[in-house]
Amino acid sequence: MTQSLTIRRPDDWHLHLRDGDMLRAVLPHTARDFARAIIMPNLVPPVVTGAQAQAYRDRIMAALPEGSDFTPLMTLYLTEDTDPADMAAAHASGLITAVKLYPAGATTNSASGVANFDKVAPVLEKMAEIGLPLCTHGEVTDPSVDIFDREAVFIDRVLDPIRKSHPALRVIMEHITTGDAVDYVKSADQNLAATITTHHLVINRNHILAGGIKPHYYCLPVAKREKHRLALRAAATSGDARFFLGTDSAPHTDANKLLPCGCAGCFTAPNTMSILAEVFEQENALDHLEAFTSLNGPNYYGLPVNESTLTLTREAPDYPDHIDTPEGPVTVFDPATPLNWRVS
Ligand code: NCD
Ligand code: ZN
Repeated sequence: MTQSLTIRRPDDWHLHLRDGDMLRAVLPHTARDFARAIIMPNLVPPVVTGAQAQAYRDRIMAALPEGSDFTPLMTLYLTEDTDPADMAAAHASGLITAVKLYPAGATTNSASGVANFDKVAPVLEKMAEIGLPLCTHGEVTDPSVDIFDREAVFIDRVLDPIRKSHPALRVIMEHITTGDAVDYVKSADQNLAATITTHHLVINRNHILAGGIKPHYYCLPVAKREKHRLALRAAATSGDARFFLGTDSAPHTDANKLLPCGCAGCFTAPNTMSILAEVFEQENALDHLEAFTSLNGPNYYGLPVNESTLTLTREAPDYPDHIDTPEGPVTVFDPATPLNWRVS
């Protein structure tokens, strides 16, 4: 039995760090295991301009633990008023790595997102021209569409038309939750990849709703049926270069989760690598863990892979059930299964 596994240092291709006290509390948990992360721009107010991305990057760098070499990869939040010239300048200077599309109202802090996709066509065309990737929150917000169908409908109504209008645009479907999304990514000939979260490899919708409501398992896109979780596990552990890790680690205080109308998000930064090692071992795919966490992402983004390494050893991990922050406790995602791998 393998007792120790050394892989290239992983990256997180979808991460929420928040700001202020919360940023300082959660950042060390990612910086410990990950070399880089794509930083989500859904702050209040959102990170819309190059100047805002620069200021946010400076705040992240200032919050890093002493001696950390973690690199935040910044994104801009796409709005109907995004200035293509400002965006292109932020890309040319190396400040931003991607642009994030939130359908207006789809998730936490997405009110400034896009309602009319035709309005952003000139920006998407510019992005295709300069090779700046688009990260998508792939859910429609039409209230008549069932929440469990919103990803599949997004593919048909929004994503496929965008990709046909802008075939050179490099797109990342983020935090996919369905077999439909897996199939769509596999059917694309080029310029499409997907991130998969840690928690969607572990939970299905029963975890949220059966035997009592579990707010800590509520995230967006919401976890789907078991057959979809199995499709995600097959894709993630297959080694297929189009699928890679984006944890979507999304900290909210318990006070904001445990409400009549609680926030969406699972906080997985502290135990993601232990959980993933478990999942890949369960699928007899430990030899593909490195591709998912450390190789496929940089390859799709056209960035070098990390030279440093991370070692996991076969030992029960010790992570807290919550972390304390000045804003209140944040519960760490409970994988509901014993874990046998620890980051050493
Ligand atoms: C994210 C958040 O809290 O910012 N929540 C979530 O459930 N994933 C937003 C998002 O990525 O949808
Ligand atoms: Zn997210």
